[in-house]
Amino acid sequence: MAMRTVRRAATRPGSLPASLASLAEKLLTPHGVDRYLELIDPMLVRSEIRGEVVALRRPTRDSITLTVRPSRAWRGFAAGQFVRVTVDIDGVRRTRCYSPAGSAHRGDELEFTVKAHEGGLVSRHLHERGHVGMVLGLSPADGTFALPEPRPESIVLIAGGSGITPVLSMLRTLVDERHPGEVSLLYYARTPDDVPYADELDELAARRGVRIHVRHTATDGHFNADHLRRVAPWFARATTYLCGPSSLMEAVRAHYADAGISEHLHTEEFAPPVLTVAASEAGGRIRFVRSGVDIVSDGRPLLEQAEDAGLSPEHGCRMGICFSCTQRKVSGVVRTAGGEESAEDDEEIQLCVTAAVGDVEIDC
Ligand SMILES: Cc1cc2nc3c(=O)[nH]c(=O)nc-3n(C[C@H](O)[C@H](O)[C@H](O)COP(=O)(O)OP(=O)(O)OC[C@H]3O[C@@H](n4cnc5c(N)ncnc54)[C@H](O)[C@@H]3O)c2cc1C
Ligand code: FES
Repeated sequence: MAMRTVRRAATRPGSLPASLASLAEKLLTPHGVDRYLELIDPMLVRSEIRGEVVALRRPTRDSITLTVRPSRAWRGFAAGQFVRVTVDIDGVRRTRCYSPAGSAHRGDELEFTVKAHEGGLVSRHLHERGHVGMVLGLSPADGTFALPEPRPESIVLIAGGSGITPVLSMLRTLVDERHPGEVSLLYYARTPDDVPYADELDELAARRGVRIHVRHTATDGHFNADHLRRVAPWFARATTYLCGPSSLMEAVRAHYADAGISEHLHTEEFAPPVLTVAASEAGGRIRFVRSGVDIVSDGRPLLEQAEDAGLSPEHGCRMGICFSCTQRKVSGVVRTAGGEESAEDDEEIQLCVTAAVGDVEIDC
């Protein structure tokens, strides 16, 4: 059910000559030239990376693909990495991670395919309000889930749902490089209508010799060893990259563990880990020292509670990957999503994957 692609004519962003920008910077100190450039055209800002949506399409009922042209400060990405994307929603800046789906060799345009989550703030905003000309904030590419150099000879890619994006980036990159080794993709989507890159996957399988099996979970069932053996009989000697919903991740991890080859498996999760603090352990006071805000803990991650209390701590992935929410805990006991507790004073913690157990003071 591919729909019409809307595309805007190319303009080179951030094209203010360097000498002119430097002179302007001096003249406009102390505010800096970026503050004024922002008002003229956000894409001219030089100290931060911006991206302008130049095309969009809706490859499935609940996803949107944005083609984004980054500004000059963009330095490219390795296939599989993610970017923190910032949008302004009702005057508040919201940041989420998205993995560029394109080849790392075509870094002048980024492609983000975003699944709209029910009740999801940023994904629904992009789905409903995304338009050509929209300007997004971008971080430099980040993350260790990436194709290494030199490339492994045999590569298995396994993905489910929106987890297609980083592994498709790997696949497109390998195709651009004419990778001489074996490459297989096993992809799970609920029905044929839920496969965002169906035509391209068919073509890659037909013309580029990549072994691709798309399984529809509504009729074919979920991951099993036979699916993997059929698409990659040699999987035991390959390097595998896996991204998808937690049920798929757990099943594949268990299979690799049973086969004694867990070290061949590299994974990336899109969904936040579950953080459990029993009702009896909640109810302590959380004091955000610098802001002078004092609340009663309800057991949720400190980041969510800080936001609900009107604070705006810096954050990115909201799931313990990017470390951008790191703050100093002054005192108190916290528990991480892995279940570990720490009572040390003056330690750095990640607000997004940490909950208070009793009274806690944060330097934030
Ligand atoms: C490294 C990385 C790369 C990512 N790349 C992509 C990508 O290429 N395409 C893409 O569509 N998404 C990707 N994501 C997920 C994305 O960052 C957001 O989490 C997702 O878009 C939901 O954000 P939201 O603001 O709409 O939801 P929120 O408002 O943050 O959350 C709303 C509800 O949805 C739940 N939720 C949030 N994220 C997920 C999820 N992924 N699966 C199930 N439930 C969820 C939350 O627990 C919450 O209950 C990536 C995440 C990470 C960490
Ligand atoms: S927001 Fe990324 S680690 Fe917390």
